[in-house]
Parts: sequence; structure tokens; C-alpha cells
Amino acid sequence: MSTFYEETRATMESSPRAWLVTGAAGFIGSHLVEALLALNQRVVGLDNFSTGHASNLAEIQAQLGASRWKNFRLIEGDIRDPAVCREACSGAEFVLHEAALGSVPRSIQDPLTTNAVNISGFLNMLVAARGAGVLRFIYAASSSTYGDHPDLPKIEDRVGNPLSPYAVTKLVNELYADVFARTHGFESMGLRYFNVFGPRQDPDGPYAAVIPKWITAMIRGEPVFIHGDGETSRDFSFVQNVVQANLLAAMNDDPDAINQVYNIALGNRTTLNELFAAIRRTLAERGVRCTQEPVYLAFRPGDVRHSQASIAKASTLLGYVPSHSTEAGLGTAIDWALGQELARPKQ
Ligand SMILES: NC(=O)c1ccc[n+]([C@@H]2O[C@H](COP(=O)([O-])OP(=O)(O)OC[C@H]3O[C@@H](n4cnc5c(N)ncnc54)[C@H](O)[C@@H]3O)[C@@H](O)[C@H]2O)c1
Repeated sequence: MSTFYEETRATMESSPRAWLVTGAAGFIGSHLVEALLALNQRVVGLDNFSTGHASNLAEIQAQLGASRWKNFRLIEGDIRDPAVCREACSGAEFVLHEAALGSVPRSIQDPLTTNAVNISGFLNMLVAARGAGVLRFIYAASSSTYGDHPDLPKIEDRVGNPLSPYAVTKLVNELYADVFARTHGFESMGLRYFNVFGPRQDPDGPYAAVIPKWITAMIRGEPVFIHGDGETSRDFSFVQNVVQANLLAAMNDDPDAINQVYNIALGNRTTLNELFAAIRRTLAERGVRCTQEPVYLAFRPGDVRHSQASIAKASTLLGYVPSHSTEAGLGTAIDWALGQELARPKQ
């Protein structure tokens, strides 16, 4: 862990603040809630449980214990409702806005709902946060914003055309945040996450992300499907790297760093074939033998071929130094998934 991040955490712990985390019951949101509560912060969570799970919050509660958990309050509600957003923002100093509908295929299937949550919901949150006098609004942006731009690695100011409705919504988020900075002087920072993975990422359902889906399929002995030839690549980043970026962004006091967007990733590229091999190897190290080969399907519409971030901007302006390699993160994600499978009632 970088010294600067450790110092930031120590400063936070010595002077607790009030935070709102939207999407608190989701994968990334639950890790943010956990990290903040562990640092003795006061946290309100907002979620409508559309893709998040109460079990994610129960897991944190069990891990942190009553003395930390008492600083958490959950609001069950929908960011499409401006009154809910106002209630949630009231009293918050910092907002970490994670609530959205993820998944490129979902947005192609149902662009209206993705648009309503990711754009109207986002705007509701911006208006409410500004109205409540929130000091800073950190939001989950996305690598999908790079669209068809061919450059590798991806650099923040070189974006192409969006390739999916989801990518449109994440681009519009950045545009609204920028306009609120210009028109109201409202402070925000967009964190363009690349493919994030880790414990509590949902392995089930048609829109599950590749890593939890494959880990669980391999543990259960179910087939693993690869869209395309397997040479598609992504910058897979462990969730603790994303937590670090959020805390550094919120605590940053450099005027040049505010009202910017940042790539948050590892800065590496792993192909799907390499990922499959790495998961199989990590499972084998834990005594889970998986002999199957992946099943190759057609390429998926809307998917970009390669993705790799330059993390130079986040490193220079935020002091971001990823703490976990993909391999190290996979070990932790797999240990969690194995625990979940052991606890699962036998079919
Ligand atoms: N996981 C990734 O690889 C990745 C990559 C880029 C960007 N992102 C972004 O990060 C954020 C968090 O993603 P995640 O992977 O944790 O997904 P997730 O689905 O696990 O979490 C999203 C949470 O938001 C909640 N939510 C959805 N619609 C809501 C609504 N209308 N009102 C209130 N709550 C609502 C869900 O119930 C869920 O708990 C999202 O904005 C996503 O677009 C994620």
C-alpha cells in the first residue's frame, strides 16, 4: 500500500466525516461502505436493491462488528425519485455515487431503463447534492466512454464514439458533472473504472461480469463461454484499487485535480484466454481441479476489442498507486467465491 494512501486513511480516521454511498448494496458500493466504516466515518447508504443484495451489507456488518456498524444508516430508495435523492444527500459532506445499471448487453436490451437510472438518476443526484451543500461528488464513470477510439493505452482526453447505450449514459454523466462545475462551481470527480472484480461481485444472472461468472462456473463444473476468439483483452482491476481511488479523490485538496475524470485501473492488459488460464491455475492451487476447455461463441455486439488504461493522470494528480495485481486479486475473489459455494444449499 502506498505511503500516501496510508497517510490519507490515517487523516480520515482522525477526523470522521459524513458520507453518502449510492449503490451501497452493490459490489463496489459495499466495498466503499466497508472501507469508510472501518475508518470510523459516518455513512448513509442508498440502494433500491435492483442488482444489489442485502447479503452484501450483512457480510460487512458481520465483519466490522457493532461498534463500526452503528455509524451506518441505509435508505432503501430509487435515485429516479428526486425526493429520495434529497433525503439521502441531506447532511452529507461527500457523495460516492455508484448506483447505476451496469452491463453493455442490458443497455442494448433495455435502453430506456438504463437511460432513466444512469442519466436521469445521475442528474437527480447532482441536483440534490448541490442543493444539500455537499462538498464533493465522486462518481463512477466508465472505460466504455472510450468507445471506438483505437489508442492503447487509453488516455483521458482521447475518447471515441460510444458503442452502446450504457456507454452513452456514462459519457453524459461526465458532461453533466462538467457543466455543473462550470455553471455552479460544484466540485466533482469522475472515476473511469475499467473491469473491476473482487468479492461480492454477483456471479449469477444474464448480465454477470466475466470474472465472477467464470469462477463460479468452474467451481460448479459448468461450461465457460468466451465471446469471440479469446484474444479480446481488458484491464482487470481489483476492487481495493477502486476503493483507494475514491478515498484519494474525495480527500484531494489540489485545485488542478478537481473537476477532472481519471482512469482507475491497473494499467495492464489480460486476454480472456489468459484470464481463463489464470482462474483455472488459481483454483488448482486451492485444490479445485477444472479440466474443461472454454466454449467459444460469436463476438458480442457493443464490446470493444482491447482495453488498457494509462493511469498516469490518477497517479500524478491523486497519488493513486494500485495495491493489488490481477493475480493477487483473483486469489481473494476466488477464496470468497469458494466460501459462497460451500455455504450454498445443495441443489
Ligand atoms: N464493475 C465494473 O467493472 C464497473 C466498470 C465501470 C463502471 N462501473 C460502475 O460502477 C458502479 C457500481 O457498479 P457495480 O459493479 O458495483 O454494480 P452493482 O450492480 O453491483 O451495483 C450497483 C448498485 O446500484 C443499485 N442501483 C441500481 N439502480 C438503482 C436505482 N435506480 N436507485 C438506487 N440504487 C440503484 C443496485 O441495486 C446495486 O446495489 C456503476 O455505476 C457502474 O456503472 C462498474
